[in-house]
Formats: sequence, C-alpha cells, structure tokens
Amino acid sequence: MSEWVLEAHALWKSYREANSTLTVLRDISLQVGSGERIAIVGASGSGKSTLLHLLGGLDRPDRGTVSIRGRDTVRMNERERSLLRNETMGFVYQLHHLLQEFSAIENVAIPLLLRRADPVEKVHRAAREMLREVGLEDRLEHRPSELSGGERQRVAIARALVTNPSLLLADEPTGNLDPRTGEGIYDLLLNLNASHGTALIVVTHEETLAARMHRCYGLREGTLVLVR
Ligand SMILES: Nc1ncnc2c1ncn2[C@@H]1O[C@H](COP(=O)(O)OP(=O)(O)OP(=O)(O)O)[C@@H](O)[C@H]1O
Ligand SMILES: [Mg+2]
Repeated sequence: MSEWVLEAHALWKSYREANSTLTVLRDISLQVGSGERIAIVGASGSGKSTLLHLLGGLDRPDRGTVSIRGRDTVRMNERERSLLRNETMGFVYQLHHLLQEFSAIENVAIPLLLRRADPVEKVHRAAREMLREVGLEDRLEHRPSELSGGERQRVAIARALVTNPSLLLADEPTGNLDPRTGEGIYDLLLNLNASHGTALIVVTHEETLAARMHRCYGLREGTLVLVR
C-alpha cells in the first residue's frame, strides 16, 4: 500500500469553448500523506474547485494520474470510483449539493446507507451524532430549503465526515458562515485531523484557516505554487 493517501501526478485540465480552449490546470502534482493538512488558495476562477474535483475523482483530468492509497482513480470505471470515494473520502462542495427532498438527518445518513453495512437505526444514530457535532441537533428534520445557508453548509460537512474518511476534501467549507460558526468548523476539522488522522485538503480564502495547515499552496496561472 502506498505511503501517500493521495498522489496526483502531472494533471492537465482544459475546457473547450466554441472557438477556443481554456486551460485551467497545467502539469499539477501533489502528494499528501496520512494526517497531513493542506490548504489551497487562489483568486476566483484560478481553478481551485476544478482541481479539488479531479483530486476527489468527481471529474477526470485530460492527462495525468490521481491515486488514492496507491490506486489509480483515473483508470477506474464509475462504479469502482464511487466505491473508493465512499470508503476513503469525504467531499464538501462549494455549493453544498444537499438533496432537497430529504431532511438534514437523511442527507447525512445517505453515505452510510449506500454501504449497506449497518441497520438503519444505527446509521441514524451516527448521523444524529454528527449533526450534534456541527451544532444542528435541533434541525434534524429540516429540509435544505428550511435551513439557513450556514446550516446547509454544516449539514454538508456532517455528511462528508459521517463515514470517518481518511481524506477530507473541502471547497471553502466556511465560505457562508459567520466568523464564530466558521471557527467552530475549523475546530471540528482540526480535531478530526488530530484524533482520527484524517488528511485534509481545504480550499479557503481564510488566512486563519490556511495558517493552521501544514502546507499552503497557491494556484497561479494553472500551476500549483508552494506558498508556505
Ligand atoms: N464546466 C466548465 N466549462 C467551462 N469552463 C469552466 C467549467 N468549469 C469551470 N470553468 C472555468 O474554469 C475556471 C476555473 O474554475 P473554478 O471553478 O475551478 O475556479 P475557482 O478557483 O474554484 O473559483 P472560485 O474561487 O470563484 O470558486 C473558471 O474560469 C471557470 O469559468
Ligand atoms: Mg471554487
């Protein structure tokens, strides 16, 4: 088994428009060890979300490889990739992507239900506990449309963490939160990292969060530059 939780090598990504090609990522490589904390910063439109989606196997690069614990995700089929994601990764999207027709507790329970490993009662207990940790024990039955922006973001974080992943990819997880709630989320992520050794890759504009990571990279003109 690889010593790296995540290993990305020579990633390229372009978007083809009608008359031109927009190259967003150029030859990006990154290695993340178990329990490491990585921040990615960069201007709007610099490609942070694009990169995180490639790292999380939610999109494919034009060229290059992404390995999770030594297994190349680019060559997997959709089913294999989904399974590996469910086993090893949590993903917090920039726009939370909660399922509108389900309540908070149901949204958080879904990744565990997909595993078909535990009875529903046990899954709901775990989902409830996770929602308690993000401060939403009073909102279990609310649907996303009945939650505030910050509450939705916290449900999305609970959903990403409920499987106890070895790697958490988070795209501006505190983007919609007031400073105090944001701090609570940082503490949650850092505690998880300390207690479970969860590796973190976090896209953020927040200096205070970036400062608490082991390494901080900037995305500039499609390349990844070590900032600190
Ligand atoms: N599906 C797509 N088709 C065409 N262009 C795209 C697509 N997705 C993203 N882009 C373009 O790629 C660039 C990078 O987008 P991306 O979402 O990765 O930026 P970002 O760094 O996450 O920005 P922000 O901080 O605003 O979230 C942008 O210029 C965007 O317009
Ligand atoms: Mg983005």
